[in-house]
Order: sequence, then structure tokens, then C-alpha cells
Amino acid sequence: MKEGKEEIELIKEGKRLDGRGFDELRPIKIEVGVLKRADGSCYFELGDNKVIAAVYGPREMHPRHAQDAKMAVVKFRYNMAPFSVDDRKRPGPDRRSVEISKVSREALDPVIMREYYPKTAIDVYVEILQSDAGTRTAGINAASIALADAGIPMKDLVSSVAVGKIDGEIVLDLNAIEDNHGEADMPVAMVARTNTITLLQMDGRLEREEFERGLKLAMGACHQIYELQRAALIDRYSESVDVGEGEA
Ligand code: CDP
Repeated sequence: MKEGKEEIELIKEGKRLDGRGFDELRPIKIEVGVLKRADGSCYFELGDNKVIAAVYGPREMHPRHAQDAKMAVVKFRYNMAPFSVDDRKRPGPDRRSVEISKVSREALDPVIMREYYPKTAIDVYVEILQSDAGTRTAGINAASIALADAGIPMKDLVSSVAVGKIDGEIVLDLNAIEDNHGEADMPVAMVARTNTITLLQMDGRLEREEFERGLKLAMGACHQIYELQRAALIDRYSESVDVGEGEA
């Protein structure tokens, strides 16, 4: 258990409190192109997490001195709505949102072909409407789809999920009660097609063997999420783009 937390039984008769098995994701729902004014957008649900990502750009970068003459600058703002958590969250940036914005930007950066758009900015906004642990992973999944929806050239999508340890077991995709009362939480993001990890964080402690097992579990789940992301994009564009069978 993480320090200072009350002990709660999180696994009963081999099942988690929400009835999931150890290697089961929460239900995922994806909608692409939900915002009219954004260049690209995505609504993403992961269990009780509800997030929206909006992408603007590439557009002229202000202030000009912050421009990069060789490539686009990607800006990422993660924001939790005051009503997204049990206790009202004080509006505005805090240490946590600054950290999440930074690691999320770095998780997406390797796939964005920034060299195509020198001197511009690509703005990515992630708004958490409802949170239930794993919001950074939901935000990265949503942002990745919104970037593709904006037509920004990308090498691939980025997929993300957390694994953790509760009652001594390694489990996939912790919800809030598991995150609060569990022993460890490890968010992962990766480019599923190439198995390239672009984010890896850990809160709590894992043995080396648990870490390796957890990472494998997260990587497998990222492949599942990748298929859902891809399907959502194909669904959105299937009317306007002819996607040939087997070469989508
Ligand atoms: O959301 P994520 O798991 O990426 O980040 P976290 O910092 O591990 O937060 C875990 C969960 O704690 C969030 O998803 C919220 O449900 C909750 N939380 C909260 O209730 N109030 C905050 N100010 C921050 C987090």
C-alpha cells in the first residue's frame, strides 16, 4: 500500500471490486471530430474517465522568439475541470497538471513529423471532464487521435494505459479506488506498431519481476487500444476516404 493510505480489500474471490479480471481494461468509447472549431478533436471514455482533446494548428507561433526555425513547436495543456473530481479542484494549473502536460507532450512528440512545419505551433489541449484514475493515459490516447484528425503528419498513433499493483497482484488499468489504495501505479505510453515506449512513470514500488510482468501487460493492452483508436479514425473517415481491404 502507498504510504499513509487506509487499507481496503481490493480483490475478492479473484475479482476486482468492479468485477474485472486482473488483465481487463475498462470499457472504452471513442468519438472523433466532436468539436467544430478545433482542427482535430476526440472524445475518449475509459471507464468513468471522460476526456476531450482538441488540436489547433499548425499555426503561426507566438511569441515569435519562441519559434523553432527548423520545426513546429508542440504545446500540450492538460487541464482538470473543477467538477471532474470528488472534491472541487481549484481551477488553473498546478504542479500535477504541469508535470502531466510535459510527459504527455513527450509521449506524443516522437510520432509528430514536426520538421514539416517550421516556425509554427501545434497546440494540444486535453480537458478532463470526469476523472477516475488513468486520466493522463486517456488524455494521451485522445490527443493522439485528435492530432490525426487534424491531419497532422504522424509516423503512427500513440496508445497508453496504466498497470499497477493491488493486494499484491499486478493488474491492468487501475480505477480511482485501486489507485488510491493500491501499492503501485505505472502509466505507460507506446507506439504500438513498433513497440516503442514513449512514457513510463511509476508511483509506488514494484519488484523487478513485477515490473517486467506489468510492462508486458501494459504493452499488450496498448495493442488493444491501438486497434480501437484506428477503428475510430477509419469509422470517421470511411465515407470520405476509400480504405481498401487489408491495407487500412
Ligand atoms: O489521473 P492519473 O492516474 O493519470 O493521475 P494521478 O495523479 O495518479 O491521479 C489519479 C486520480 O486521482 C485521478 O484520476 C483523480 O481521479 C484523482 N485526483 C483527484 O481526485 N484530485 C486531484 N486533484 C488529482 C487527482
